[in-house]
Amino acid sequence: MQQRADYLVIGSGIAGLSFALKVAAKHKVFLVTKANEDESNTKYAQGGIAAVWNDADSIEKHVEDTLNAGAGLCDEKIVRKVVTEGTQRVKELIELGAKFDKAQNGEYDLAKEGGHSEHRILHYKDVTGNEIERALISQIHKHPNITVLDHHFAIDIITQHHLGVEVNSKTPGIECYGAYVLNTRSYKIETVLAKITVMATGGAGHVYATTTNPKIATGDGIAMVYRAKGHVKDMEFVQFHPTSLYNPVEHPSFLITEAIRGFGAVLKTLDGKEFMQKYDKRGSLAPRDIVARAIDNEIKIRGDDHVYLDCRHLDRKGFIEHFPNIYNKCMGLGIDPFLKMIPVVPAAHYLCGGIIVDENSRSTINNLYAIGECACTGLHGANRLASNSLLEACVFAHIAAEHSSSSIDKIKFKDNIPDWDAEGTEQAEEMILITQSQKEVQQIMSNYVGIVRSELRLQRAFDRLEILFKENEALYEKTVVTPKLCELRNIICIGYLIIKHARQRKESVGLHYMVHYKE
Ligand code: FAD
Ligand code: SIN
Repeated sequence: MQQRADYLVIGSGIAGLSFALKVAAKHKVFLVTKANEDESNTKYAQGGIAAVWNDADSIEKHVEDTLNAGAGLCDEKIVRKVVTEGTQRVKELIELGAKFDKAQNGEYDLAKEGGHSEHRILHYKDVTGNEIERALISQIHKHPNITVLDHHFAIDIITQHHLGVEVNSKTPGIECYGAYVLNTRSYKIETVLAKITVMATGGAGHVYATTTNPKIATGDGIAMVYRAKGHVKDMEFVQFHPTSLYNPVEHPSFLITEAIRGFGAVLKTLDGKEFMQKYDKRGSLAPRDIVARAIDNEIKIRGDDHVYLDCRHLDRKGFIEHFPNIYNKCMGLGIDPFLKMIPVVPAAHYLCGGIIVDENSRSTINNLYAIGECACTGLHGANRLASNSLLEACVFAHIAAEHSSSSIDKIKFKDNIPDWDAEGTEQAEEMILITQSQKEVQQIMSNYVGIVRSELRLQRAFDRLEILFKENEALYEKTVVTPKLCELRNIICIGYLIIKHARQRKESVGLHYMVHYKE
């Protein structure tokens, strides 16, 4: 079955939804998303969205904080662009109906997180992402030009390769004509043709065994682009959030927002001693790479399973008002934050690298844009500043919308695209072949390619992943595609790219910390 739309947007987080709303006035948009329409990393964002909001703050300060966090690897031009345009994009979110908390004086209540020199995080309690997602989806539903196809899993983008033309990563002029999409209700694979395709598939936390990301985050978009011979970069820069709730039976891990440390909570070892001052003069509010590494080190030295976040001294009323979601979660597990310290551990949280895009969010494949967490714009460099990613997603959704709508009318749909070829494939014999390999990838990545790395660990990880890659490619060739099979294929690809880029970077910088290289 073939369908056509001017735009095919893959992903319904802040990036995909914002983009769709911007181009839909003049063009038909198909928005495909693999789970429920609101399921996304965006939905779980807690802390908020960073933007220069008042005279106490300035563009320069936000730029400087972003550059400092990025450890010298940010693209300063992009940082300036995002910070400068960001405030307007946040105002648009408010116009679209997103609510952010206000203080008693009627001004927005601006929070502070690690690495920020000013209070500049707009938030809605500790469920900011859910509020943004709610507001955007309700606008999407009102739009006659946008068709949302939920439970539609994008398998691969369509290029010349599908017309029998050989392409490799050096081939000039690779073009994207749309994507093959599996309807996971009917189990039919649809050919969706588009003049312009937009990858907005988010992150890849599930490459690791412990992550704050919901289970949709399997790096599908980055893997699709890499398979289509598009370029990706900076994959070694995986951000581990220092404080996910330590609760081994829960996957994914529940996040304890950094804003709690901005509110005064302090990290302590199991014997109740503060330790962050040993590592950084900013203490518990140092940038996340430093805090995550410090926790990892304390856990390893002491042989403990976690550290604590001490909130017992904080104002109870203010805490419950600001962090009702976290308060309820802790209370549900029998942890009253005013009587007991909260056990926390680092967890994979955000991927700074991704699909290489230019300043207009164009990938290296023609007619394919990438926005949001799956894209690598140059904003984050070696480490993302907290709450800069929601901002980046809406800034680049806007830029990509403006840029693509100026050229889309010159683009023609591609004819003669073959439908998905399932010949020779059979139903998977045993799901265990997929689920066990998935666990192995996650264990390999967590144990060898985590917060602290070494040449030996990376080599081991590479060798083991190669075996899984070969086994899974053989399985893929002969098996009817399912989301689980595709996601396994994608996390193997993402794991491979993280290891490959990590091995190429012969230094410790930002989130990439190698034991044998000093920072
Ligand atoms: P997402 O919101 O992840 O959306 C991706 C979409 O793509 C989803 O709808 C998914 O289903 C869909 N998709 C993926 N693969 C496919 C496929 N193969 N086919 C079809 N659809 C597909 N950032 C901040 O700035 N501030 C915060 O406070 C903050 N807190 C966070 C808290 C948590 C717990 C987490 C996990 C992240 C947090 N982040 C925060 C990061 C931020 O939420 C994400 O970087 C951002 O939301 C990414 O938006 P996105 O639109 O790029 O991707
Ligand atoms: C948090 O609330 O601590 C997460 C913020 C972010 O990831 O940007």
